[in-house]
Amino acid sequence: MRILSLGAGGFIGSHLTHRLLTEGHRVVAVDASLEKVDDFIHHPNLTVIQEDIRRPGWDLNDLVADADLVIDLIAYANPGLYVKIPLEVFRLNFIENLKIAEACVRQQKRLIQFSTCEVYGRSAASLKHAGLRDPDDPIHATYTEDTSECILGPVAKHRWIYSCAKQLLERVLHAYGLEHDFNYTIIRPFNFIGPKIDFLPHEKEGIPRVFSFFMDALLTGQPIKLVNGGSSRRCYTYIDDAIECMNRIVMNSRGVCDRQIFNIGSPRNEVSIRQMAIMMREIYGERYRDTAVRLPDLVSVTGDEFYGVGYEDSDRRIPDITKARTLLAWEPTWNVRQMLEATMDYYVNRHRGAAATIAVGNA
Ligand code: NAD
Ligand code: UGA
Repeated sequence: MRILSLGAGGFIGSHLTHRLLTEGHRVVAVDASLEKVDDFIHHPNLTVIQEDIRRPGWDLNDLVADADLVIDLIAYANPGLYVKIPLEVFRLNFIENLKIAEACVRQQKRLIQFSTCEVYGRSAASLKHAGLRDPDDPIHATYTEDTSECILGPVAKHRWIYSCAKQLLERVLHAYGLEHDFNYTIIRPFNFIGPKIDFLPHEKEGIPRVFSFFMDALLTGQPIKLVNGGSSRRCYTYIDDAIECMNRIVMNSRGVCDRQIFNIGSPRNEVSIRQMAIMMREIYGERYRDTAVRLPDLVSVTGDEFYGVGYEDSDRRIPDITKARTLLAWEPTWNVRQMLEATMDYYVNRHRGAAATIAVGNA
């Protein structure tokens, strides 16, 4: 197929682009930054376009016209940004993404839209007056695409503007499906990890996701900060497992993905953020540490201290992946330790490579 991939230069986008090229597709990769596709930028079936989709008049319609399939991964996807620049998050994640969807509706092109597990919001166990017999029962935080409610916090907790923007986009796609027979597939990723996720804070200004903060603390010896003691829980999925599922959604054999929403996640990989920090520190100590260097301490901070006023956390989210199992015969295989080791190997080698280059340069 001729695939237009918007946001192809990102964490998920760069891995997906590589897989689509391996499958023999021709890919037009559009992104504001393309450094993460550097290692295969000269592939004969790859066309890269460095573009800011907010630029008026950029050639979205022509690119959609030339494509058999459109994939939209573009978004601000880091919680620090939801608190810091909520309006920009709304404009990019809803207004700009809606323009992409409507170009696909006009030209009747299938769209794969990346949404988020954050649409589910907070679990019922986090509600003050829920009166649950066993709040810790995983059923209260297990989410099914077509039947689970979406529980968000109050407006003053503007962390939820990301989730809300994505949820509204999903509802608009659903409406276009009903009223214009529009064909889309929505993907709700649950916390993917792998090489090329975000950036390390000591290398670039900004607020990445938790893995990058913990990896940076281990490499630089800074304390590991646990928001609210790291009690929140997540189910982590290794990027290679996720890409396998996405490839099956792209292929869409027998049209099983038409107008469907898919959770992509690993229900067996639930950890608390504290447990993840302890596991990363352990792995670092065993695999990379120069014994002279002391491993960093874990310190607890509040959400307001770490992200700013307006932050609220999603306490727990477990994906029900029955649909991906039954319609796509997909099953995640990587466990948390394996994915942390593989991802930490990537960053430690990259860090040491950079250090070696500097050393040679200084010599
Ligand atoms: P990412 O930040 O690595 O990728 C987003 C890409 O969009 C970046 O390459 C960025 O340069 C590009 N972009 C942003 N603004 C742009 C603009 N104005 N013009 C052109 N390009 C622009 O994030 P990711 O983790 O790869 O996420 C991809 C998608 O999946 C997003 O929609 C995100 O909300 C969703 N998602 C990801 C996860 C996950 O675990 N990684 C979980 C849930 C949802
Ligand atoms: C993420 C982002 O919103 C999106 O990438 C995405 O839509 C979705 O969820 C996903 O990845 O599936 P979240 O899981 O909260 O949100 O992302 P992180 O920033 O990685 O935070 C995870 C947890 O670690 C939160 O509880 C946060 O408070 C905590 N944290 C973060 C720390 O304890 N210490 C840190 O240094 C950073």
